[in-house]
Amino acid sequence: MTADYRIYADLANWWPLISPPSEYAQEAAYLAALIKEKSAGKGTISVLDLGSGGGHVAAHLTGGLDLTLVDISPEMLAASRRLVPGFEHIKGDMRTIRLGRQFDAVLVHDAVDYIIGRHDLASVIKTAAAHCRQGGTAVFVPDYVKDTFAELTGAGGGGVDDAGRTAAFTEHTWDLDPDDDEVQADYEFTLTHADGTTEVIRESHKLSAYPRDLWRALITDAGLDLEPEPAPLPGRKPANIFTARRRSPGTPHAVARP
Ligand SMILES: C[S@@+](CC[C@H](N)C(=O)[O-])C[C@H]1O[C@@H](n2cnc3c(N)ncnc32)[C@H](O)[C@@H]1O
Repeated sequence: MTADYRIYADLANWWPLISPPSEYAQEAAYLAALIKEKSAGKGTISVLDLGSGGGHVAAHLTGGLDLTLVDISPEMLAASRRLVPGFEHIKGDMRTIRLGRQFDAVLVHDAVDYIIGRHDLASVIKTAAAHCRQGGTAVFVPDYVKDTFAELTGAGGGGVDDAGRTAAFTEHTWDLDPDDDEVQADYEFTLTHADGTTEVIRESHKLSAYPRDLWRALITDAGLDLEPEPAPLPGRKPANIFTARRRSPGTPHAVARP
């Protein structure tokens, strides 16, 4: 559970320094272009962002997109409200939430990495389908899939906030057991307070890396028609992306060749 991860709980106000919104700009530009292309002809496009975190993707989904942001962490929602105050924010679990309304598009970005277990992944995809209007688009963007996962090391962080704080991190993401759908990200966060004192926080996150074929099967089972791999568009195309359309009741499955 993400409540176990301090970076999404009591340390959430460091998130903009750990993972600056500017780093999401290129990928978000692609997602915005994709959603607009899929919703061609609509004026304002309603978008549900499941697992919206600090709103760092949402901050770039502008120009005719009207977002509703859902996250399980009150602290991340608070950070997001500061960044993108104009959007509706709702606390909820993307596995179970039901808002009783539908959207032109549903986006499930990197928060899906925290969905551990195939049953829970199926639940998230059903949540996306339940909130997609008929003909609407669901977009799933996991950081990792089993087929291409490769151990990685990295580092990041940047900027100074109004209080004069800075932050940096290192990560090592690796596969403990190639026979399951999980990988582990070992993070070290270095938080520098306004008075210059430094705190080092280490935490290991359990993340998912499901096979592409499982994603495809669960998307289809949820009443969504998988679409072919999307084309290049302005911005940076995510490494892993699945797009699907909500089919009308009684319509036979369309079979896409991804
Ligand atoms: C890497 S952060 C997402 C960052 C986000 N893309 C952004 O733009 O800031 C992961 C997020 O997933 C959220 N999360 C994890 N499990 C969730 C669940 N079951 N339902 C909703 N949100 C969840 C966490 O609270 C956290 O905010």
